[in-house]
Amino acid sequence: MDSFEWNKVAGAVLGAVLFVLGTRVVAETLFHVEPLEKQAYVVEGVEEEGAAAAPAAPVEEPLPDFAAAIPAADLAAGEAAAAKCAACHVWAAGAAPTIGPNLHNVVGRAKASTAGFDYSPAMHAKGGDWSYDELFRFLKAPPAYVPGTKMLFAGVPRAQERIDIIAFLRMQADAPAALPPPRPAEAAAPAEGAPAEGAPPEGAAPAEGAAAPAPAEAAPAPAAH
Ligand code: HEC
Repeated sequence: MDSFEWNKVAGAVLGAVLFVLGTRVVAETLFHVEPLEKQAYVVEGVEEEGAAAAPAAPVEEPLPDFAAAIPAADLAAGEAAAAKCAACHVWAAGAAPTIGPNLHNVVGRAKASTAGFDYSPAMHAKGGDWSYDELFRFLKAPPAYVPGTKMLFAGVPRAQERIDIIAFLRMQADAPAALPPPRPAEAAAPAEGAPAEGAPPEGAAPAEGAAAPAPAEAAPAPAAH
């Protein structure tokens, strides 16, 4: 082969290499996808990987510190979420009940206590008042909290959504119900943005970041001696 032939061979090889490299660059530009740091589409109710490894025994959900959680709640979000309750409830003062009882003044009200609504025997039997804690537990899964209830509603799984709804319902009242005293740290779920200072209620072990100061509208905390 003379040098002219060799040039042709070398040219063909070089061309092939360039073609392969070029194709790769183009293909990578077209198809290369950065790996996502997080799941792009979060589907509510679908457990994330790893969550499935949680212990089988249901762990009791920690109760929020309502003294801090209610003032921090999103009332507009609560009102929007309460649209699902409006399918069965009214909360305007004096309005006749629909499928469920009127929820005006419901926070702090005795259970099954409105006139003109035919409550289930289960709700009558439950007894006590609708405290923040009880509303929080009930609204998560009504049939589980009051077995036999007539409230045929699966519940609101998200804790923050329930807090927002309760904060909204608290305003659907002649006067908003008093807030509870701050919950001692051991019992409280970490409330976002809870101020770190403030006197813990009597008997509570002082813990860092524990008690939020009772806001002005709160019920007076037990006096410390
Ligand atoms: C499918 C209809 C339905 C939906 C939706 C519904 N409820 Fe009810 N609710 C009822 C009925 C019926 C009762 C009466 C339960 C009983 O007597 O056992 C009730 C009872 C209650 C009570 C007890 C009131 C009392 O006077 O003791 C509260 C609190 C309550 N509902 C809150 C809510 C909230 C908040 C929502 C929305 C997150 C909601 N409900 C959604 C039908 C409904």
